Amino acid sequence: MSEDLNIPAKALAKREKYEMLLPQISALIEGESDALANIGNIMAALKYGMDWLWVGIYFVKQHINNDELVLGPFQGPVACTRIQTGKGVCGYAWQNHCVVIVDDVDKFPGHIACSSLSKSEIVLPGYKNNTIAFVLDVDSEQLFSFDETDKEYLLKIVGWIEKLI
Ligand code: SME
Repeated sequence: MSEDLNIPAKALAKREKYEMLLPQISALIEGESDALANIGNIMAALKYGMDWLWVGIYFVKQHINNDELVLGPFQGPVACTRIQTGKGVCGYAWQNHCVVIVDDVDKFPGHIACSSLSKSEIVLPGYKNNTIAFVLDVDSEQLFSFDETDKEYLLKIVGWIEKLI
């Protein structure tokens, strides 16, 4: 298969971009069983396909006596490595078992600013054995970037990652 992505045009509506990109992501990971390789490619495809600032995954990992979110494959500026439960948008989504859409990160109490360029954010938890195993985090340089359409399509991606890990 070709590893080149057909990147959706910037002018396309969000839903059209996802409709164009998701089959390509599916094809990209089809036939490869290595989870890390596939997750890395999914992050790159989302970052460049959707033209976001940052796309990445934090895995729940044990640290001394507590679990923490630890940075996994991502695309974009360097990011904070560890996030404790309840901290930031990622820790909130993890603690409260919910998808979090933040229209303006400056208005989210405790938001962790890995990049000052980030203006809005969506975080979606992913599960293994009925427990949160990771969160998918996406940052945008624009305010109000994320809505129910992003939630719908990104939950499909989360479902694919759940099957990989
Ligand atoms: N903003 C996140 C931290 C991770 S970075 O955006 C990559 C948060 O508040 O949890």
